[in-house]
Amino acid sequence: MQILNRRPRRNRATGAIRAMVQENTLSVNDFIFPMFVQEGTNTKVEIKSMPGIFRFTLDTLLEELKEVQSLGIKSICLFPNYPESKKDKYGSESLVSDTLYLKALSEIKSKFPDLVIMTDVALDPYSSDGHDGIVENGKIINDETVEILVKMSIAQAKAGADIIGPSDMMDGRIGAIRKGLDAEGFTDVSIMAYTAKYASAFYGPFRDALESAPKFGDKKTYQMNPANIKEALLEAELDFAEGADIMMVKPAFSYLDVIKALKENFNIPISAYNVSGEYAMIKAAAQNGWIGGDKAMMEMLLSMKRAGADIILSYFAKEVAVLLNES
Ligand code: PBG
Repeated sequence: MQILNRRPRRNRATGAIRAMVQENTLSVNDFIFPMFVQEGTNTKVEIKSMPGIFRFTLDTLLEELKEVQSLGIKSICLFPNYPESKKDKYGSESLVSDTLYLKALSEIKSKFPDLVIMTDVALDPYSSDGHDGIVENGKIINDETVEILVKMSIAQAKAGADIIGPSDMMDGRIGAIRKGLDAEGFTDVSIMAYTAKYASAFYGPFRDALESAPKFGDKKTYQMNPANIKEALLEAELDFAEGADIMMVKPAFSYLDVIKALKENFNIPISAYNVSGEYAMIKAAAQNGWIGGDKAMMEMLLSMKRAGADIILSYFAKEVAVLLNES
């Protein structure tokens, strides 16, 4: 027999001991549930590449929210799906006062006043080019785009948004949006900056959901190169200085080191976006019987907490809530 002072296995001996020494946990409070709204009535359409996730019309969305709330989920993030006929170069539809998205926000707020509503600020759902900004001569132009993003943010705040979520990656937009919101009296509306948003292949299923894939090229002139982490710290310095209340890393699973770096360097909450492709991979493998879906899901999400995420945006939110409520 070996003489060992330290036998780490002692702390793993029983379920109760393992629970006692567990360093990180998931709570339903950590989650924001991303949801999709489309025009029409009495319909919900399952997204092919995201089994279990639907695009709802406003009426069915409101029904679904009852279930979401009953599971204990306190926060959602809403994305709109618009038909091509509503899209143009400037994303003008986003500013129409009774447009689907703004109508949905105010309706949700009036029916579910306690629910935290996070929005999406970017041109892509409304853009005939499928880009997050205005395209001119094949380039995405920054400052003109930011002017529209500020107007979008104010319109969303007026409609009842609690947290504005700029997902566009234009330079200087956090400061401009903060200034715009404050000037209109929305000093209490928060900004969750998509701070380190990478040009990622893992957004594929989301673009199916919104039918918003770029019509030409890619998003590499504004979203970040997956090879870089110092650049994420630079983005974070800027967003922090410009007034972000929460800073996000997106995607999450391949970028745990980035989550950790932001968590260690900034004293505001850090969120992680467990994106559509991460969801789809687990669902597809589980449907094939290749992995245990629930266990893989919990392990993936826990890794984000361990890396330092305070908040997780995830399409798994409802499933996690069910499991956590059982345990
Ligand atoms: C676009 C946006 C994207 C996502 C959220 N907002 C996709 C993109 O940048 O092309 C992705 C979310 C996901 O994949 O779950 N503004």
